[in-house]
Parts: sequence; structure tokens; C-alpha cells
Amino acid sequence: MKKEFNIVLVGGGSTWTPGLLKALCKLKSRLPLKKLVMFDINEERQKVIGEFAKVLFSESYPELEFTYTTDKATAFRDMDFIFCQMRTGGFAMREKDEKIPLSLGAIGQETCGAGGFAYGMRSIGDMIDLVEQVRQYSPDAWILNYTNPAAIVADALNKRFPDEKRLLNICDQPVNLLRSYGRLLGKDPSTFDPVYFGLNHFGWFTHLYDEHGQDLAPVLKSFIAENGFKPVDAEQRDKSWLETYAAVADMLRDFPDYLPNTYLQYYLYPEYKLSKLNSHYTRANEVMDGREKRVFDECRQAVAEGTTRNVHVVHNDAHGDMIVELAESIAFNLKKKFIVMVPNQGLVENLDDDVMVEVTAEIGCHGPRPYGVGKIPVFYKGLIEQQFAYERLTVEAWFEGSYTKALQALTLNRTIVDAKKARRILDALITENKAWWPELH
Ligand code: G6P
Ligand code: MN
Repeated sequence: MKKEFNIVLVGGGSTWTPGLLKALCKLKSRLPLKKLVMFDINEERQKVIGEFAKVLFSESYPELEFTYTTDKATAFRDMDFIFCQMRTGGFAMREKDEKIPLSLGAIGQETCGAGGFAYGMRSIGDMIDLVEQVRQYSPDAWILNYTNPAAIVADALNKRFPDEKRLLNICDQPVNLLRSYGRLLGKDPSTFDPVYFGLNHFGWFTHLYDEHGQDLAPVLKSFIAENGFKPVDAEQRDKSWLETYAAVADMLRDFPDYLPNTYLQYYLYPEYKLSKLNSHYTRANEVMDGREKRVFDECRQAVAEGTTRNVHVVHNDAHGDMIVELAESIAFNLKKKFIVMVPNQGLVENLDDDVMVEVTAEIGCHGPRPYGVGKIPVFYKGLIEQQFAYERLTVEAWFEGSYTKALQALTLNRTIVDAKKARRILDALITENKAWWPELH
């Protein structure tokens, strides 16, 4: 019999949790669980999802020991895996992260630009606390983290816990892109062997090999040039996401070398994107009025009906599948390929060793064994170094409580550039983030 594992989901009240729960059910023969715990500091949100989970498991995983809790000891004791997705400040602060920069003439986005900076300055402290708390109770557990802004969180955790071997930072956007390529090419994305480099939300696919070793990237690029680009789950996506995917065609027209991550649109076309974003109704509003409402309503409906039969809850299963498959690859030393964040150490030959890069890696019981990509061309090197300098300065601003470093970070960000604008944005963000940020002087 396969070993059975204990998993805790940190951020149990997240709208992404039902997707994870369903992935755990779907993949239970591959990653069998003994115990699952959901943990959140927001009792009210978590209760809705936790009660839904009980109904789901009574139908699909009756043998599973399941609880949800706000107690750290209950959550972290005897765990094998911690799946972590927290949002410090909640959607209310995401909305401010997006609206404040927009009101001052810069991109307002969850993880990019000034919004990502503000969110990063909130996430770092809570993530450090989480790792320390987990280690008190489960010194050997794997922490699989996808808390945003992942680039900044990964660099901060690497600085604070340099010897931590069982902490892995990952993002689902490369998987979303691979699945979208699969739909477009009419191929199973699990057969793809991608070559990827960059930073989180700031990277490129250079090659996309199929199972015979043929590179599909050229075909894909010409297809996108002719027909545009759509997410794999286009029918379920909000308008803003469809526009985001469509921007990949623009980026490829300008820079045809590699297939870009969608998030690069904010850095390559900040003026155009700014003219399109509405400072009174941002993505946070779209999520609160859309996914957030739907997921919580459907969870309540399932609980009221005592069955999950009439609810969908999850429209995009890429995220949940990815995390569960990642844990499976570690648990059974499968050495499957994932795109993850790791210290560069020569992977991109002409970038510094300590840059937190995002690349393809084999994942086994000892963690990631990443693939190097050699030297990258000067345009990409320039973009990455500037963006990483912004990320690193953000992390240093947090650790040192340095206003100057925060200002340098924002000035280096391609979505801001002007130092006077950066100062106005920083001052406005400081006022709104007093409860979460360290004091900057
Ligand atoms: C992708 C990214 C995540 C991000 C999410 C936002 O999945 O990889 O890092 O949080 O999109 O999606 P939303 O629908 O909340 O705007
Ligand atoms: Mn991401």
C-alpha cells in the first residue's frame, strides 16, 4: 500500500481552495491522504469552504480525516505538506493596491508594479511567521508556497531562511499557459517539455518540445500571430483575462524571439494598459463581484442541499492539479517537470547567482533539480536585471525599514519610472498600509 500523507491548506478560506479540494479527490489514488486540515485566520470565510469540504468528502473521500481550524498547533502538527496561499489584507487591500497607483497615473495590478510592491510589503512578515510556526510543529514538512507576489515572497524567504531545503515557491501561470498552448495546438499539455526562463510573472518560453523532441514553439507563434491567443478556459474567463491573453499576440509581434508570460504586458505597454484600466472598477472588483460571490454562493448551496452534485465551484482546475501533482512528485520521487522559483546559481549564465529565477526543474524527494538555459540575449537580461533590482530593493526595504530603498524600488519599476511619481505613490501606499508594513524611515 502507498504511504498516506497529512496535508494542511493554509488560506482555507480562499476562493482557490475548492479547486484544491477537488484536485485532492481526483488524484487520491496518486497522492493518498490520511489527514487534511484547513487553516485560516478568517474563521467566517473558512467555515463556508470547510462545510462545503465536508459535503464533498462525504461523497468522494469518506475515509479522509478532515478538520478546519484557526489553531496553529492543530493545523501544523505532524504534517507532511503545507500548501500555502495567504492574502494578507484580503481583497479589500487588493482593491487599494490596484486603485491607489491608478489614481496617481501608474498601473494598478495585484502582483505587478506598485500594487505588487504594496502586497509584497504585507506578505513578507506573515510568510516569515508562517514558516517559523510550521517549523515548530513539523520540522521536516514540505512547504509548497504560492502566496503572492511570489517573486518578492520567494526572495524574502530565501534571505530569511537560506538553509531551508523544504520550501518551494511556485506559480500556476506557466501551467495555465501550457494548457492554453495545448488547447490551441490540439495536444495534451502533459506531453510538453518546456524550456522557460525569467522571474515570476516575468518570464518567457524559449522552446516547447513535444514527446518526440520536436519544438512546437515556431508553430505556436505563427498560430498566435494569425489567430490570436486565448486561455484554455476562455469560456469561463472574465473580460480582463481575455484581454490579457490577447496581449500575448502584441508582445510576439514586437518581440518574436520567445513566448511571453502574460504579465509582461504591464511592463512592456504601461502607457497603453494604463489607458485601458478603470481606476473605479479594477480586477479586485471583478473578482469580488464574480468568482468570490459565485464560489461562496455555490459552497453554501452545496451545504444546504447536502450534495455537491448541483454546483461547479471550480472552473479552472490547473491551479489545484499543479499543487497536488507537485506534492506527488516530491512524495514519490517522480522527478516530473515543473516551472518553479529557485536561486539562479548559473542557470541563466549571464545573471547573478542570487537572482530568484523561474525555470523548469525536475522535482523529486530532494526538491528541485533545475535546468540551465545558458546565456540570454541582452534585451531580456536588461529587463530581468531591472525587475529583479526592484524586487530585491523591495525585500531590503522591508528588512531594513528603509524609505529610500522603497523609493528606489518603485523608481526602478517599469510601470512607474519617474521618481517624483514613485514618491507620491509610496506615500499614499504607506498611509493605507500602516497596519501591515514595517515603519519606513
Ligand atoms: C494567476 C497568477 C496568480 C494570480 C492569479 C490572479 O493564476 O498566477 O499569481 O494571483 O492569476 O487571478 P485573479 O483571477 O484573482 O485576478
Ligand atoms: Mn502567479
